[in-house]
Amino acid sequence: MRYDQTCMRRSLGFVETPHKMVQFMVALAAPQVPQSTVLEPACGDARFLTAFTKAYGKAHSLTGVEIDAHTLQQTKASIDPTVRLIQADFLLWETTERFDVIIGNPPYGIVGDAPHYPIHILKERKGEYKRRLLTWHGKYNLYGAFLEKAVRLLKPEGKLVFILPATWLVLDDFIRLRRFLAEHGQLEVFYVGRVFPKVNVSAVVLRFTRGKRGMRLYDVAEDKWCTHIAPEPAVCRPDYAGELIRFENDRTHAFEKSGTPLGELFAIRFAARSPEFRKSGLIRITPRMGDVPVLTGRNLSAGQIDYETCHSGWWMRREDAPRLRPFYAEPHLVVGHTKGTRLVCAMDWRGYPWREEYHLVPRAGVRVDWHALEAYLNSETVQKYLYTLYRDFTPHLTKTMLARVPILPVCAR
Ligand SMILES: C[S@@+](CC[C@H](N)C(=O)[O-])C[C@H]1O[C@@H](n2cnc3c(N)ncnc32)[C@H](O)[C@@H]1O
Repeated sequence: MRYDQTCMRRSLGFVETPHKMVQFMVALAAPQVPQSTVLEPACGDARFLTAFTKAYGKAHSLTGVEIDAHTLQQTKASIDPTVRLIQADFLLWETTERFDVIIGNPPYGIVGDAPHYPIHILKERKGEYKRRLLTWHGKYNLYGAFLEKAVRLLKPEGKLVFILPATWLVLDDFIRLRRFLAEHGQLEVFYVGRVFPKVNVSAVVLRFTRGKRGMRLYDVAEDKWCTHIAPEPAVCRPDYAGELIRFENDRTHAFEKSGTPLGELFAIRFAARSPEFRKSGLIRITPRMGDVPVLTGRNLSAGQIDYETCHSGWWMRREDAPRLRPFYAEPHLVVGHTKGTRLVCAMDWRGYPWREEYHLVPRAGVRVDWHALEAYLNSETVQKYLYTLYRDFTPHLTKTMLARVPILPVCAR
C-alpha cells in the first residue's frame, strides 16, 4: 500500500512542536558539561537540535534519529552538517553510545490497525517492540516505548526532556512505565495543557534525571511555561515509587480520607460490548412490539435517563437484558464514560440493556441509599475534587479515578 507524505507522517505519529515550547524544553535541558552528547529521537526536522545549538553553542555533539527517509533527506538539506543524522527505527536502533542529554517530541499513538490505532504502519514490528521493552503493558502507546528506550540510553546523571500526552500520569497501561521511571531517576513533570494547535491532547513536559530520586509536579499551564519564571512545585514526592501523578493537595487528601473509596463498596462493571450484542441474537434494528432501545451514553444525563430515544440503533426485549449482563436486571447507578473528568450518573430503576458506560454493582453486604449516592456523585463537590486532581489528563473519566472517589457514610453503609 502506498501512502502520500501527509498520510505517512500522520501514521508515524507526527505532531509538530510549537516553537515556544521547543525554547522552553531546551532551557530545561541546559547541558552540565562543556561538550555534551545530545540525542533527538524521532527528530523529524531536528528542531530541538537546532534550538540546542543556538542556545548553547557548537561545542556539543548532536545526533538525530528518524525513521522516515524522505523527512531525513529534507532535514539533511537544511541543518548544520556537523549534526549526525541516522535513519533507523529508534525503538530497534542498536547502539552502545550513551548520552548526556536526550530531548524531543516522540510520536504518539497506539500501534495497530488503522483507523482505530493510528500507528498502523509499524504494526508488524509490535511483537519485536514488546520483546525489547519491559514497560510495554496493555494497549500501550508508542510514546511510552520511546521513553523507556531513551532512559536506557542516558548516561548516569544524564537528562531527558520530552513532551508527552498527560495520559501516562494516571492510566493503568502506564503503571510499569511509572515504576520504571521511579526506579531509575527523578521525575520533574511540567503540566502544560493543550499546547499543540489542532490536536486534542493535553500535554506535560517531563524532565528526567537519571540516578536521582523523587517526583515533582509543576503547574505551568496557560502559557506560564514561556515566562521563564521558575515555578514552585504543586506536588513534591521525594519517596515516589510509581503511583498515579495527580494535583494532590491537603484538601484532596482530607476529602479522600472522609469516606470509603468507591471501588471498595462497588464493583465497577462495563456494559456488554457491541460484538457481544451482535453475537447474542437478541437485538433488532427494527423494533417489535414491547422492545426497548439499547441505551448508550447519549441516553444519560445527571440524574436522568432518556428511555425513549434509540441512539444505538438496536432494540431488544428488556427481559433479555440480564442474559448479556445479570446486573442489568437490578436497579443500579450508571456512570458516564465519555464526558471528560466530569462525573455524570443516573439511576437505572427499570433494568434496561446498555451498550456503554460504567455500572456500579454493590459488593456483598453493602446497603446503598441510591438517591443520596446519585445526588452526591453528580454534585459540584465531586466534580471539583476530580478536576483538581486530574484536570484534562485523559479524554474521559477512568475506572481508576472513579474507584478512588470517597463515598460518604450517608450514601452507603
Ligand atoms: C512527533 S513527530 C516529532 C517531530 C519533531 N521532532 C517535532 O517536534 O516537531 C514524530 C517524528 O517521529 C518519526 N518517527 C515515528 N516513529 C519513529 C520511529 N519508530 N523511529 C524513529 N522515528 C520515528 C516520524 O517520522 C516523525 O518525523
